[in-house]
Amino acid sequence: MEQMTKRLNITDIRARKDSGNTPLVCLTAYTTPMARILDRHADLLLVGDSIGNVLYGMENTLGVDLEIMIRHGQAVMRGVTRTCVVIDMPFGSYEESKEAAYRNASRIMKETGCDAVKLEGGSGIAPTIEYLTSRNIPVMAHIGLLPQSVVKEGGYKIKGKTREDETRLLDDAKAIEKAGAFAVVIEGTVADVATKITKAISIPTIGIGAGAACDGQILVIDDMLGMTEHTAKFVKKYANIAADIENAVVEYTKDVRARAFPAAEHIYTRPISVVTKDKAS
Ligand code: KIV
Repeated sequence: MEQMTKRLNITDIRARKDSGNTPLVCLTAYTTPMARILDRHADLLLVGDSIGNVLYGMENTLGVDLEIMIRHGQAVMRGVTRTCVVIDMPFGSYEESKEAAYRNASRIMKETGCDAVKLEGGSGIAPTIEYLTSRNIPVMAHIGLLPQSVVKEGGYKIKGKTREDETRLLDDAKAIEKAGAFAVVIEGTVADVATKITKAISIPTIGIGAGAACDGQILVIDDMLGMTEHTAKFVKKYANIAADIENAVVEYTKDVRARAFPAAEHIYTRPISVVTKDKAS
């Protein structure tokens, strides 16, 4: 009988904090083929609204809507058998009211079958997180540098540089933990502040540009594969896929122009009997 593998759920992810286990491996994913590959290695996949920059060529994440997140959430869910999948709530889908947040989060959960949603913000968004988690919608929080605030803040600003900011971030982390979030992404934050947060709360911290002490790490898949042009200091490039694609396309272009492609093995031919009959008539 075929062995059924069980996907990691939010309880498994949450428990990794208590077990003092190896750090959680998290990556973003947006498509089925990529999810299939990452599923063999990662603990958690995030269908991030970074999809706006990465796949849709948008300047920031503000133009991403619920339909994009749901379509790509469905695509990623088709590719996984073992990882936990979290989907970002896009800008404008949860800020207006707790009720609107519930309506949109429940749509994401129902239409994709994912494990949880993620939304950005600290103490200010904690009542919404509480509203969702008390109504069976698991939430991953996101504090520190908040990409959805880029216009308001006039750029991507690293957080935790001052004592006041450190105190605010610690308060944010405690507020979202109290509200019932099962994990929190800490983005673009001074490493020793992220370390303090990691020690201060009982839910896993997933760092991106927040140092090595977090309970897990996440990177945008296209950044770490070398698909994107401009990346932040915290990105390590593990491949140069853009160069590999370019080289392949250069070879294809040469072949087509020289009529070297398609070659015999790429061409359909008629059965010999048909060819002989044609010649006879
Ligand atoms: O949208 C995204 O990819 C994210 C990660 C940067 C954590 O939120």
